Amino acid sequence: MSTRPTPLIAGNWKMNGLAASLDELTALAEALTAEPVRARVAVCPPATLVERAARAAIGSAVEIGAQDCRAEQSGAFTGDVAAEMIADCGATLVILGHSERRSGYDETDSMVCAKVLAALRAGLEPIVCVGETLEERRAGRAVEVVRGQVTGSLPDALRGKAFSLAYEPVWAIGSGLTPSLAEIGEVHQAIRETLTARFGEVSSTVAILYGGSVKPGNAAEILSIEDVGGALVGGASLKAADFLGIIRSA
Ligand code: PGA
Repeated sequence: MSTRPTPLIAGNWKMNGLAASLDELTALAEALTAEPVRARVAVCPPATLVERAARAAIGSAVEIGAQDCRAEQSGAFTGDVAAEMIADCGATLVILGHSERRSGYDETDSMVCAKVLAALRAGLEPIVCVGETLEERRAGRAVEVVRGQVTGSLPDALRGKAFSLAYEPVWAIGSGLTPSLAEIGEVHQAIRETLTARFGEVSSTVAILYGGSVKPGNAAEILSIEDVGGALVGGASLKAADFLGIIRSA
Protein backbone atom coordinates (compact mmCIF):
# COMPACT_ATOMS: atom_id res chain seq x y z
CA MET A 1 0.00 0.00 0.00
CA SER A 2 2.86 2.38 0.75
CA THR A 3 5.95 3.27 -1.24
CA ARG A 4 8.82 1.68 0.63
CA PRO A 5 11.56 4.22 1.26
CA THR A 6 15.08 3.45 0.07
CA PRO A 7 16.73 1.78 3.06
CA LEU A 8 19.36 3.80 4.88
CA ILE A 9 22.20 2.04 6.68
CA ALA A 10 24.01 4.62 8.79
CA GLY A 11 27.12 4.04 10.87
CA ASN A 12 27.52 5.99 14.09
CA TRP A 13 31.18 5.95 15.05
CA LYS A 14 30.42 7.77 18.34
CA MET A 15 33.64 9.01 20.03
CA ASN A 16 35.84 6.59 18.12
CA GLY A 17 38.27 7.22 15.32
CA LEU A 18 41.50 9.00 14.49
CA ALA A 19 42.84 9.90 11.08
CA ALA A 20 43.94 6.31 10.47
CA SER A 21 40.32 5.15 10.85
CA LEU A 22 39.53 6.79 7.54
CA ASP A 23 41.14 3.73 5.96
CA GLU A 24 37.97 1.86 6.98
CA LEU A 25 35.87 4.50 5.24
CA THR A 26 38.00 4.24 2.11
CA ALA A 27 37.69 0.44 2.16
CA LEU A 28 33.92 0.78 2.52
CA ALA A 29 33.70 3.28 -0.34
CA GLU A 30 35.80 1.07 -2.61
CA ALA A 31 33.75 -2.00 -1.81
CA LEU A 32 30.50 -0.16 -2.61
CA THR A 33 31.95 1.07 -5.91
CA ALA A 34 32.92 -2.48 -6.85
CA GLU A 35 29.63 -3.92 -5.63
CA PRO A 36 26.80 -1.35 -5.63
CA VAL A 37 23.93 -1.93 -3.19
CA ARG A 38 20.28 -0.90 -3.09
CA ALA A 39 20.57 0.91 0.23
CA ARG A 40 21.83 4.39 0.96
CA VAL A 41 24.95 4.14 3.09
CA ALA A 42 26.13 6.80 5.54
CA VAL A 43 29.01 7.11 7.98
CA CYS A 44 28.84 9.56 10.89
CA PRO A 45 32.34 9.99 12.31
CA PRO A 46 33.23 12.24 15.26
CA ALA A 47 33.21 15.98 14.47
CA THR A 48 37.00 16.04 14.16
CA LEU A 49 36.87 13.70 11.17
CA VAL A 50 33.78 14.99 9.36
CA GLU A 51 35.65 17.18 6.91
CA ARG A 52 38.31 14.57 6.08
CA ALA A 53 35.65 11.87 5.82
CA ALA A 54 33.61 14.02 3.45
CA ARG A 55 36.69 14.52 1.27
CA ALA A 56 37.51 10.82 1.35
CA ALA A 57 33.95 9.94 0.32
CA ILE A 58 33.76 12.28 -2.67
CA GLY A 59 32.71 10.35 -5.76
CA SER A 60 31.62 7.31 -3.74
CA ALA A 61 28.22 6.06 -2.63
CA VAL A 62 28.96 6.87 1.03
CA GLU A 63 27.19 9.88 2.55
CA ILE A 64 28.77 11.60 5.54
CA GLY A 65 26.96 12.83 8.63
CA ALA A 66 27.71 14.31 12.03
CA GLN A 67 26.46 13.00 15.38
CA ASP A 68 24.94 16.16 16.85
CA CYS A 69 24.71 19.92 16.34
CA ARG A 70 23.86 23.00 18.34
CA ALA A 71 20.54 24.67 17.56
CA GLU A 72 22.02 28.16 17.28
CA GLN A 73 23.85 29.26 14.14
CA SER A 74 26.78 30.90 15.94
CA GLY A 75 27.67 32.55 19.22
CA ALA A 76 29.25 32.08 22.62
CA PHE A 77 28.80 28.31 22.95
CA THR A 78 32.26 27.04 23.77
CA GLY A 79 32.93 23.59 22.42
CA ASP A 80 29.73 23.29 20.40
CA VAL A 81 29.29 22.89 16.66
CA ALA A 82 26.57 24.53 14.57
CA ALA A 83 24.67 22.76 11.82
CA GLU A 84 26.09 25.26 9.34
CA MET A 85 29.62 24.25 10.38
CA ILE A 86 28.82 20.60 9.73
CA ALA A 87 27.43 21.41 6.30
CA ASP A 88 30.49 23.58 5.64
CA CYS A 89 32.65 20.47 6.27
CA GLY A 90 30.85 18.66 3.46
CA ALA A 91 28.46 16.52 5.51
CA THR A 92 24.89 16.07 4.36
CA LEU A 93 23.32 14.32 7.35
CA VAL A 94 23.21 14.72 11.11
CA ILE A 95 22.12 12.34 13.88
CA LEU A 96 20.00 14.18 16.46
CA GLY A 97 18.53 13.17 19.80
CA HIS A 98 20.68 10.05 20.24
CA SER A 99 19.94 8.52 23.64
CA GLU A 100 23.54 9.09 24.72
CA ARG A 101 22.85 12.80 24.29
CA ARG A 102 19.35 12.67 25.73
CA SER A 103 20.65 10.95 28.88
CA GLY A 104 24.18 12.39 29.10
CA TYR A 105 23.31 16.00 28.29
CA ASP A 106 19.67 16.12 29.39
CA GLU A 107 18.47 16.76 25.86
CA THR A 108 14.70 17.07 25.85
CA ASP A 109 12.34 16.56 22.93
CA SER A 110 12.04 20.32 22.51
CA MET A 111 15.83 20.70 22.36
CA VAL A 112 16.00 17.96 19.76
CA CYS A 113 13.20 19.70 17.86
CA ALA A 114 15.22 22.95 17.82
CA LYS A 115 18.25 21.04 16.53
CA VAL A 116 16.16 19.52 13.75
CA LEU A 117 15.15 23.04 12.71
CA ALA A 118 18.84 24.00 12.73
CA ALA A 119 19.67 21.03 10.52
CA LEU A 120 16.97 22.04 8.03
CA ARG A 121 18.23 25.63 8.10
CA ALA A 122 21.70 24.36 7.15
CA GLY A 123 20.42 21.97 4.49
CA LEU A 124 21.31 18.83 6.47
CA GLU A 125 19.09 15.76 6.51
CA PRO A 126 18.31 14.81 10.11
CA ILE A 127 18.26 11.27 11.51
CA VAL A 128 16.15 11.70 14.65
CA CYS A 129 16.61 9.07 17.36
CA VAL A 130 13.96 7.85 19.79
CA GLY A 131 13.74 4.90 22.13
CA GLU A 132 12.57 3.72 25.52
CA THR A 133 14.63 2.75 28.57
CA LEU A 134 14.47 -0.72 30.07
CA GLU A 135 12.30 0.56 32.92
CA GLU A 136 9.85 2.08 30.46
CA ARG A 137 9.69 -1.16 28.46
CA ARG A 138 9.19 -3.25 31.59
CA ALA A 139 6.39 -0.93 32.62
CA GLY A 140 4.67 -1.60 29.27
CA ARG A 141 5.22 2.00 28.17
CA ALA A 142 7.59 1.55 25.19
CA VAL A 143 5.11 2.51 22.48
CA GLU A 144 3.69 5.42 24.47
CA VAL A 145 7.17 6.81 25.22
CA VAL A 146 8.35 6.51 21.63
CA ARG A 147 5.17 8.10 20.26
CA GLY A 148 5.72 11.02 22.64
CA GLN A 149 9.35 11.43 21.57
CA VAL A 150 8.40 11.35 17.89
CA THR A 151 5.71 13.96 18.41
CA GLY A 152 7.90 16.22 20.55
CA SER A 153 11.13 15.93 18.56
CA LEU A 154 9.79 16.60 15.06
CA PRO A 155 8.94 20.17 14.02
CA ASP A 156 6.13 20.83 11.53
CA ALA A 157 8.81 22.25 9.23
CA LEU A 158 9.83 18.67 8.38
CA ARG A 159 6.73 18.33 6.22
CA GLY A 160 7.95 17.57 2.70
CA LYS A 161 11.61 17.47 3.77
CA ALA A 162 13.98 14.51 3.65
CA PHE A 163 14.55 13.02 7.09
CA SER A 164 14.60 9.69 8.83
CA LEU A 165 13.90 8.35 12.30
CA ALA A 166 15.86 5.77 14.24
CA TYR A 167 14.17 3.61 16.85
CA GLU A 168 16.89 2.69 19.30
CA PRO A 169 15.79 1.08 22.56
CA VAL A 170 18.24 2.51 25.10
CA TRP A 171 18.81 -0.92 26.65
CA ALA A 172 19.74 -2.44 23.28
CA ILE A 173 22.49 0.04 22.50
CA GLY A 174 25.96 -1.47 22.84
CA SER A 175 24.56 -4.25 25.03
CA GLY A 176 24.30 -7.13 22.59
CA LEU A 177 20.58 -7.33 23.47
CA THR A 178 17.87 -6.71 20.92
CA PRO A 179 14.09 -6.66 21.21
CA SER A 180 12.18 -9.50 19.60
CA LEU A 181 11.26 -9.00 15.96
CA ALA A 182 7.63 -8.58 17.04
CA GLU A 183 8.59 -5.86 19.54
CA ILE A 184 10.59 -3.98 16.91
CA GLY A 185 7.71 -4.32 14.46
CA GLU A 186 5.20 -3.03 17.00
CA VAL A 187 7.19 0.14 17.72
CA HIS A 188 7.98 0.79 14.06
CA GLN A 189 4.31 0.48 13.20
CA ALA A 190 3.46 2.95 15.97
CA ILE A 191 6.08 5.38 14.64
CA ARG A 192 4.66 5.04 11.13
CA GLU A 193 1.14 5.74 12.41
CA THR A 194 2.36 8.78 14.35
CA LEU A 195 4.15 10.10 11.27
CA THR A 196 1.17 9.54 9.02
CA ALA A 197 -1.20 11.24 11.46
CA ARG A 198 1.16 14.21 11.58
CA PHE A 199 2.43 14.56 8.04
CA GLY A 200 0.00 12.53 5.94
CA GLU A 201 0.57 9.68 3.52
CA VAL A 202 3.75 11.31 2.22
CA SER A 203 5.43 10.04 5.38
CA SER A 204 5.49 6.58 3.82
CA THR A 205 8.72 7.73 2.15
CA VAL A 206 10.40 8.40 5.53
CA ALA A 207 12.81 5.61 6.44
CA ILE A 208 12.42 4.35 10.01
CA LEU A 209 15.70 2.76 11.04
CA TYR A 210 16.25 0.29 13.83
CA GLY A 211 19.35 0.72 16.01
CA GLY A 212 20.80 -1.14 18.96
CA SER A 213 23.24 -4.07 18.67
CA VAL A 214 22.74 -4.54 14.93
CA LYS A 215 25.38 -6.98 13.69
CA PRO A 216 26.06 -8.85 10.44
CA GLY A 217 24.45 -11.90 12.06
CA ASN A 218 21.10 -10.31 12.94
CA ALA A 219 20.77 -7.58 10.31
CA ALA A 220 18.91 -9.60 7.68
CA GLU A 221 16.06 -10.62 9.98
CA ILE A 222 15.75 -7.15 11.52
CA LEU A 223 15.78 -5.46 8.11
CA SER A 224 13.10 -7.80 6.82
CA ILE A 225 10.55 -6.55 9.38
CA GLU A 226 7.70 -4.53 7.89
CA ASP A 227 8.38 -0.82 8.34
CA VAL A 228 12.06 -1.25 9.25
CA GLY A 229 13.69 0.95 6.63
CA GLY A 230 17.32 0.60 7.58
CA ALA A 231 19.66 0.51 10.52
CA LEU A 232 21.67 2.85 12.70
CA VAL A 233 24.78 0.92 13.60
CA GLY A 234 27.28 1.76 16.32
CA GLY A 235 30.00 -0.73 17.17
CA ALA A 236 29.62 -2.83 14.04
CA SER A 237 30.14 0.21 11.79
CA LEU A 238 33.74 0.77 12.88
CA LYS A 239 35.15 -1.98 10.68
CA ALA A 240 34.34 -1.87 6.97
CA ALA A 241 34.00 -5.66 6.76
CA ASP A 242 31.37 -5.82 9.55
CA PHE A 243 29.50 -2.80 8.26
CA LEU A 244 29.46 -4.26 4.73
CA GLY A 245 27.99 -7.44 6.15
CA ILE A 246 25.06 -5.39 7.45
CA ILE A 247 24.77 -3.26 4.31
CA ARG A 248 24.55 -6.36 2.11
CA SER A 249 21.54 -7.53 4.16
CA ALA A 250 19.49 -4.46 3.24
P1 PGA B 1 25.32 -0.18 18.81
O1 PGA B 1 24.95 1.38 18.82
O2 PGA B 1 25.11 -0.66 17.39
O3 PGA B 1 26.78 -0.23 19.20
O4 PGA B 1 24.43 -0.86 19.76
C1 PGA B 1 23.86 1.86 18.08
C2 PGA B 1 23.72 3.35 18.29
O5 PGA B 1 23.90 3.83 19.43
O6 PGA B 1 23.42 4.10 17.34
